[in-house]
Amino acid sequence: MNIPGHKPYFSGKEKAYVLDALERGSISGDGYYTEQVSAFIENFFGVRKVLMTTSGTHALEMAAILSGLESGDEVIMPSFAFSSTANAVILRGAKPVFAEVKADDLNIDPDDIERKLTKKTKVIIPVHYAGVACEMDKIIAIAQRFHLKVIEDAAQGVNAKYKGQYLGTFADFGCYSFHGTKNYTCGEGGALLINQDKPVTIDQAEAIRQKGTNRSRFLRGDINQYNWVDTGSSYSPSDLLMAVLLAQFEDMQEIKKKRKAVYRVYQSVFKPYEKRGILRSMRIPEECDPNYHLFWVLFDNEEMRDCVLAALNQRGVAASFHYLPLHSSPMGKKMGYQPHDLPVTEKSAKCLLRLPLFGGMTETEIDYTVQCVETVIGAL
Ligand SMILES: Cc1ncc(COP(=O)(O)O)c(C=O)c1O
Repeated sequence: MNIPGHKPYFSGKEKAYVLDALERGSISGDGYYTEQVSAFIENFFGVRKVLMTTSGTHALEMAAILSGLESGDEVIMPSFAFSSTANAVILRGAKPVFAEVKADDLNIDPDDIERKLTKKTKVIIPVHYAGVACEMDKIIAIAQRFHLKVIEDAAQGVNAKYKGQYLGTFADFGCYSFHGTKNYTCGEGGALLINQDKPVTIDQAEAIRQKGTNRSRFLRGDINQYNWVDTGSSYSPSDLLMAVLLAQFEDMQEIKKKRKAVYRVYQSVFKPYEKRGILRSMRIPEECDPNYHLFWVLFDNEEMRDCVLAALNQRGVAASFHYLPLHSSPMGKKMGYQPHDLPVTEKSAKCLLRLPLFGGMTETEIDYTVQCVETVIGAL
């Protein structure tokens, strides 16, 4: 039996909505479905302004531009993150400064953010790993004390909360991803959440997204022709994709419930092994309501992790690891980092194992995965 690591969950309405989008005849950006999805996110999650984007990567790039990043600026972010988080900063000529994560939830350590602050620091980018929130109150307090901007990389954090508030809504900007691997997906897509109460930022964001033009104002009927007004690019997704995404959002809680059920099974399966001291399961702090994006465990050492990973893969279970730290990647090394600069990140990445987790996972698939886990880890 083959169990994939992830698989998109379809609510069943996707096809009908895509057909409807085709029939409407308006399949480029900012059509009916884009409006529906952005309104849903604004209303449900409580966001001032949402702009749908072509990817989470592009939402991060827009946030980097809107934060006014330029050459010489420093941005503190975890090394335990995705390349897009760092690229968004580098594309502005600014410098990513990698901070440590906490060993229990693999989210950025606020104490290390403080240690990494310099006169050049302009932005902090917390990444909500596995859909479990970073310590946002501490991070926002640091940002306020030092007059820094914050961009939440909530690519994995859609429909997750911290202290009752949705991720992506705490900082100046929030970035969501709807990539095929995410809980809610349209294949490729994202959203920029603007939480600042400044219309000028919204105007600027709309222009950046619409090739540097004020086309969004034209589409709203505010002006009778549109023109080139700023530097920008093409970050607006096709309405066909937004039709798929709306269907997903309409089943948002159902998808979360299904993922939570798989998570709970894994949690109980791993408990005895945790007691034996050979591994540690991911921790969800009390103030976090996650979206069950991932389930991961940390083995005591790399050899054990590699052995379990290979044995599960051999049995057709697509267990995996994630992320390869940015600071010790070929790019990180070019920036002058050494693997030992961030020991918690380095060790965690080497000992981490992720298990398959997706909304449509059947009883048979769950049972088979659990059986393989019991066989492989039981033999250690
Ligand atoms: C933390 C994080 N940031 C950014 C991204 C990029 O999102 P996208 O694939 O939608 O460009 C990802 C995607 O996997 C991610 O996990």
